[in-house]
Parts: sequence; structure tokens; C-alpha cells
Amino acid sequence: MPSKSAAAFFRPRYPILSPRVLLRPFTEDDLEPLHDMQSQPEVARFVEMYRQPPSREQVCAALAWRMRNTALSQEGDALMLAVESKSRHVLVGEVILYWLDEQHRQGELGTIFNPRYHGQGLATEAVTEMLRLGFESLGLRRIIARCDVRNTPATRVVERIGMRREALLRDCSFVEEAWHSEYLYSILSAEWAGR
Ligand SMILES: CC(C)(COP(=O)(O)OP(=O)(O)OC[C@H]1O[C@@H](n2cnc3c(N)ncnc32)[C@H](O)[C@@H]1OP(=O)(O)O)[C@@H](O)C(=O)NCCC(=O)NCCS
Repeated sequence: MPSKSAAAFFRPRYPILSPRVLLRPFTEDDLEPLHDMQSQPEVARFVEMYRQPPSREQVCAALAWRMRNTALSQEGDALMLAVESKSRHVLVGEVILYWLDEQHRQGELGTIFNPRYHGQGLATEAVTEMLRLGFESLGLRRIIARCDVRNTPATRVVERIGMRREALLRDCSFVEEAWHSEYLYSILSAEWAGR
């Protein structure tokens, strides 16, 4: 068992494959599908930065940011990966793994899927691969996720992959003149190994 996360410089071998999706770095060809995803009202509802439909310039900046985040070299870095349907060859969503803390081997998981591809288990499949990467390649001890309490689809996904609800963060954000609460979820490396 490593005493700290395994990553000094860590770049996964892409694409990362699962039965129905592949995870890969974003490319310039993802501009239109990323714009489409970020403009969907269902995404805007729970992702603070997309409350207003983004302009093309904002999506270009978001894409450039994603294209730079494909490897980890220090805590605070993130892997931001496009999720592509293997059968349709289209961008269906994105997954994010933040390397929160090197000494304490902590990470955080995030995901957004285009509502056009919801309800098929593709998000569950993609985030499972990010847990595998976080625990088996990076050597993380604990991975967390935060979900708005009203976001039932997200809580169902994180519970389906074995995360446990460990806290209710009351009124932890103030967006559009209203306070919002979140659930904090986590999964430990031992729970991943014994799933
Ligand atoms: C969170 C989010 C990614 C979940 O999307 P999703 O489509 O519900 O998740 P999945 O792709 O894993 O699909 C799961 C559903 O497909 C169903 N499903 C259908 N076929 C399936 C299959 N072959 N395998 C697994 N599940 C399948 C499941 O039963 C499940 O439905 P249920 O939750 O009603 O039981 C999506 O709601 C989203 O992008 N929201 C906006 C952004 C956001 O809130 N992000 C999270 C911030 S924490």
C-alpha cells in the first residue's frame, strides 16, 4: 500500500474503455456537442456555472480548459475527460476526477451527461471507470462527490456505484437569490476493492 498517492506525473492510457463508452481527452471536434450539452436546461439546473446558456466564446474557453486537463502532476489538478458512446461515436457526457490532496490521498468525482443520453446507465458506467482509475492507478484512499439535495438522478448514480452519504451540507451555496444544500458522499479504497 503506498503511503501517498502514486501520481508524480500521471497520464492514463487513452482511451479508457468500458462496455458501452470510452473515456478520452477532449478535442476541438467536441465544441458543438459540448455547447449543446452545456445549453440544456436540465444541466443548467444543477450546475451553477451553466445557469445562463453559455456563449460560443465561453464554450471555446471551457473546451480549451478541458483539453489541458488530461494528466495529473500535483494536487489541485483534474482529469477532465470526454465520454463517447462506442456505438454512436458521439459525445454523450463528461467525467472529472479532481486530485484534492496528495498527502491524504483524497479525490473528488464529478460528471455531466447530455440529457439526450440520460437513463441508459452510461453515466454510471463512466464514473465507475473514474473510480477504478482513482483507486487502482492513483492509489487514492477516499473519493468524494457532492450533489444538490434535489438532484435525485445524481444521488442515484453515486449510490449505485457504492458511495455512502456521509453528510448533509446545509445552505452551503447561494445561487440565484436562494440557498442550496448538498449531500456529501464518499467511497473508500477498501469498499471499492470489496464491492
Ligand atoms: C447526474 C447525471 C449524469 C445522471 O444521469 P443518468 O442518465 O440518470 O445516469 P445513468 O446514465 O447512469 O442512467 C441511470 C438510469 O438509467 C437506467 N438504465 C437503463 N439502462 C441501463 C443499463 N443498461 N445499465 C444501467 N442503468 C440503466 C437506470 O435504471 C437508471 O435509472 P434510475 O436512476 O431511474 O434507476 C445526469 O442527471 C446529469 O448530467 N445531470 C446534470 C449534471 C449534474 O447534475 N451532475 C451531477 C453533479 S453532482
